[in-house]
Amino acid sequence: MCGIVGYIGSGEAAEFLLEGLSKLEYRGYDSAGIAVYDGSDVRVEKSVGRLAALRDKIREDMPKGSLGIGHTRWATHGRPSDSNAHPHTDCSGDFVIVHNGIIENYLGLKEDLIEKGHAFKSETDTEVVAHLLEEVYNGDFEASVREVLRRIEGSYSLVFMSKKHPDRLICTKQDNPLVIGLGEGENFVASDIPAIIARTRRTFIMNDGEVAVVRKDSIEITNRRGEPVTKKVFEVNWNAEAAEKGGYEHFMLKEIHEQPKAVRDTMSQRIAKDGSAIVMDELKWDAEFLNSFNKIYIVACGTAYHAGLVGKFYIEKLARIVVEVDVASEFRYRDPVVDENTLLIVVSQSGETSDTLAALKESKRLGAKTLAITNVVGSSIAREADQVLYTWAGPEIAVASTKAYTTQLVLMFMLALYMAEIKKTVKPERCRELISLLKKLPSQVSETLSDVEPIKTFAKHYGFNEDVFYIGRSLDYDVALEGALKLKEVSYIHAEAYAAGELKHGTLALIIEGVPVIALATQKSVYEKTLSNIKEVKARDAVVIGIAAEGDEELEKYVDHVMKVPETDELLIPLLTVVPLQLLAYYAAITRGCDVDKPRNLAKSVTVE
Ligand code: M6R
Repeated sequence: MCGIVGYIGSGEAAEFLLEGLSKLEYRGYDSAGIAVYDGSDVRVEKSVGRLAALRDKIREDMPKGSLGIGHTRWATHGRPSDSNAHPHTDCSGDFVIVHNGIIENYLGLKEDLIEKGHAFKSETDTEVVAHLLEEVYNGDFEASVREVLRRIEGSYSLVFMSKKHPDRLICTKQDNPLVIGLGEGENFVASDIPAIIARTRRTFIMNDGEVAVVRKDSIEITNRRGEPVTKKVFEVNWNAEAAEKGGYEHFMLKEIHEQPKAVRDTMSQRIAKDGSAIVMDELKWDAEFLNSFNKIYIVACGTAYHAGLVGKFYIEKLARIVVEVDVASEFRYRDPVVDENTLLIVVSQSGETSDTLAALKESKRLGAKTLAITNVVGSSIAREADQVLYTWAGPEIAVASTKAYTTQLVLMFMLALYMAEIKKTVKPERCRELISLLKKLPSQVSETLSDVEPIKTFAKHYGFNEDVFYIGRSLDYDVALEGALKLKEVSYIHAEAYAAGELKHGTLALIIEGVPVIALATQKSVYEKTLSNIKEVKARDAVVIGIAAEGDEELEKYVDHVMKVPETDELLIPLLTVVPLQLLAYYAAITRGCDVDKPRNLAKSVTVE
């Protein structure tokens, strides 16, 4: 996720900008840059790679001046490079900006601005904002910024600087974080508190739509309509480490709570304005392309493999194409039937998992068409695949994958629906219905996260059990697999997921009095059958925790506890049911005193075979 900093005062801006950016490194980034006004001009310095590369570049000749902005970039639109790094400027160099988020309508704006003679220097969505400001500028900096905000769509935190107005920074936000640090004769702007904590603990936390004009000794904040806003000073009393985690105790918990935004960002730009269709500008597939292969393989590892299982369900159900899913470490050793009639989809959060990369390379060698679903722009897998779909989850730091999974699910659902639209295997009314339910997901994920107390209680109660079983049918089974993996990897409890119908073929022998069984029962098409499997384990005196959709009044009659998630289509419900399972794993690990973000023996990215 990009990091933003800004400084106005009497000190050296560059010193704070570099210091602040270093405190935001935990957010993940691939390039960095700063811009400092020296009294007559703005000097912009950028460098791809670590912050150290930027420091080395300017060590002997630091930009001087007391007004500046800085940025660490996590690539979304355009690969990591010096030219795509922020800050970005307009043609004249009068306006300089840094941005975190996605400008959804940037393509249309860019075409328009190019027609008007603007020359772009980068591939980013962000640069349109600088040129748009140049285009609408009428001598009033703040009014012109507001005009820009009226024309852009998407999510952003933005800081504007202008050499025509060197007495101020202007900043604003929509769906991305931004804070202002209050100093003495100086003020700071940052996307997160760790950047400013060494300078001040007095902050304003910006709300969506607010615009702040920050001078060295004053801050004026107005709302979307331009009316003054009186804000309360938020005194930060966290230490620096807690601040990096946004006040959460662990990155895993922070990332679980970031899912509503991650899901929303991943959907954005991929739904037609009228809600009638999925738009995949990255792919531009047609019926001829879909008819050019007769088989799809989805290949991945760990959580990404579990997302692949759900992807198979989606593609088969909606687009009626046969899909096989395989773990990457097995795939290439079993002499798979791959040729030019195969589409290989690899799924990888990091884009660096060596088995997944090797499966991709081998399939390409055999002539397959390849598509990567990954979270990291410019990663090895993104570079190797013929085509790429990015999840916009932002960097995932905890070893246990959470927001990567939900965004992979969203993207695979959208891909399946996109294929179905081309193949005409789903009626337009059904397509509209699914899209409208899809759009509700971010707020439904938030709702699922709103009451964690019952989950904490379960975790405390069952956190010391040796074994836990997860059961479900259809998509519930795929989510059960992910729930069990989460519990194993962070709490070290032995957890197994079973297709509920398989229990009586062996596993039922392990179900004895008091064994916790998490039973997912959200798939309407197999609901009665799941219920009878739940009765089987209950009859062996297991303690059953049921997971059901709101409106289900039946399940609670047969289980010991029920956790409910908001109602949606059974295809989309895995995005909701996985959330309590992630939280359960997290709180069980806490109960047992485990190192949640760095579980024993595990690494975030497995780059060796
Ligand atoms: O970066 P990738 O998605 O390719 O990683 C795949 C697995 O290593 C990863 O999902 C792993 O299983 C997670 N630690 C699970 O939480």
